[in-house]
Amino acid sequence: MTTHSDKDRVVIFDTTLRDGEQSPGASMTLEEKLEVADLLDLMGVDIIEAGFPIASNGDFEAVSEIAKRIKRTTVAGLARAINADIDRAGEAVKHAAKPRIHTFVSTSPIHLEFQMKKTEEEVLAIITATVARARGLVPDVEWSAMDATRTPIEYLCRCVDAAIKAGATTINLPDTVGYATPDEYRDMFRQVRERVANSDKAIFSVHCHDDLGLAVANSLAGLEGGARQIECTINGLGERAGNAALEEVVMAIKTRGDVLPYATGIEATLLTRASKLVSAVTSFPVQYNKAIVGRNAFAHESGIHQDGMLKNTQTYEIMTPASVGVSKTSLVMGKHSGRAAFRDKLKELGFELGENAFEDAFKRFKDLADRKKHVYDEDLEALVGDEIDTGQDRIKVESLTVICGTQGPQLATLTLSIDGNHKTIQASGNGPVDACFNAIKALVPNEAQLELYQVHAVTEGTDAQAEVSVRLGENGRSVTAKAADPDTLVASTRAYLGALNKLMMKNQKGRGEMMRAV
Ligand code: KIV
Ligand code: ZN
Repeated sequence: MTTHSDKDRVVIFDTTLRDGEQSPGASMTLEEKLEVADLLDLMGVDIIEAGFPIASNGDFEAVSEIAKRIKRTTVAGLARAINADIDRAGEAVKHAAKPRIHTFVSTSPIHLEFQMKKTEEEVLAIITATVARARGLVPDVEWSAMDATRTPIEYLCRCVDAAIKAGATTINLPDTVGYATPDEYRDMFRQVRERVANSDKAIFSVHCHDDLGLAVANSLAGLEGGARQIECTINGLGERAGNAALEEVVMAIKTRGDVLPYATGIEATLLTRASKLVSAVTSFPVQYNKAIVGRNAFAHESGIHQDGMLKNTQTYEIMTPASVGVSKTSLVMGKHSGRAAFRDKLKELGFELGENAFEDAFKRFKDLADRKKHVYDEDLEALVGDEIDTGQDRIKVESLTVICGTQGPQLATLTLSIDGNHKTIQASGNGPVDACFNAIKALVPNEAQLELYQVHAVTEGTDAQAEVSVRLGENGRSVTAKAADPDTLVASTRAYLGALNKLMMKNQKGRGEMMRAV
């Protein structure tokens, strides 16, 4: 039998904030990135790739803030094989307790010919110079061979050799286009490690994209080939079809220790919380049947399965819901429940609120319990995850009445408090949500574009709360806000205003510029 100490430690490198954020529409605000980074740190991730500092000032600021704040986990910044990129990444991670620069260059013939327009020898010289430059800034340097899986093995070995000689401490061989099969990927690592004389001087890393649905299988095959770092993202977020999902690689290693003799430092009971947080801040829903964190991942529907589960849960369950942090849906308290019980319940769900936020959440719980017969854990998660009024919001909903149905037009009568002054308007629209949003636009003229509007029911039943996400974009900046309410139109209006308030807070030039209240 394999004991834990026999197992090779696999380093978990999370790139949700970099490759994950590259998914179209998954951009996060600084505050959201900090929240995700804190949770990744708490969860035991070894390395957080916090962003691509040269890409924008926002990316630089996020990497730099995360570097200053996180004390246990290594913080990495990505850089192309360009001096300016490397210097910018070095600047961004310089305050980290454990800084890393991750620099990459393409190595495959197709990338060299069409994208880089460079010869193999030119790229080799670039690798030596840029890795050495990064090593001059930080002691921990990762080098990646972009499109490694479509690079001839001889040339790949020469590149890896050059990178290690120049000082790279981690060598990442990505399946950038998600093309490899598990056998090919494993063999590539075996061959490179055998052929490169100084390969034992570096840790080898996998980075797999999911274009053929093989990212997790390939990542595990890479371990067989000798890799000991896995690059992955929460919920498998990432370019195109995404990256290997962190929760899947971690639970595969944990559950199949008999054939995968490895260990990670991840606290698996936080996986569900991390999945929900990333889904909330990006507004990317998690597919219902997604492994580990999908809402149906532990649901047993058929009679035969339910019968087996009642007799012995191992008949149909290879891991327990509790092991990944799923608490059984439970009826919470009713309207008579007090503060102490409410605080205990929030703690069990992983929320510790400051006094003001707690009082606000408690009041909203009471209001909800008055209106909704059964209040479940999911309702509380939505309620607390809702954009809590920070006291800084300039615009608040005072009242909303909507007329809708077959006899159009749909009409919304909305009263807002704008900087403390009440304003009312009636607007029509192509449906009730459109009418509500038109009313907001009439009261608060602004240039923001609606980039995403998404509704989902928090629990089952027709009295379920609607959780609405709204993303607004303005001048290249996007913000997302959520709100939950049993009334979909109220939730929609509050989510829209939440995003508008955030955009205004972001607007450094401040009051009155973006908003011209009528
Ligand atoms: O997919 C890829 O090759 C990458 C590199 C930047 C590591 O994301
Ligand atoms: Zn990638």
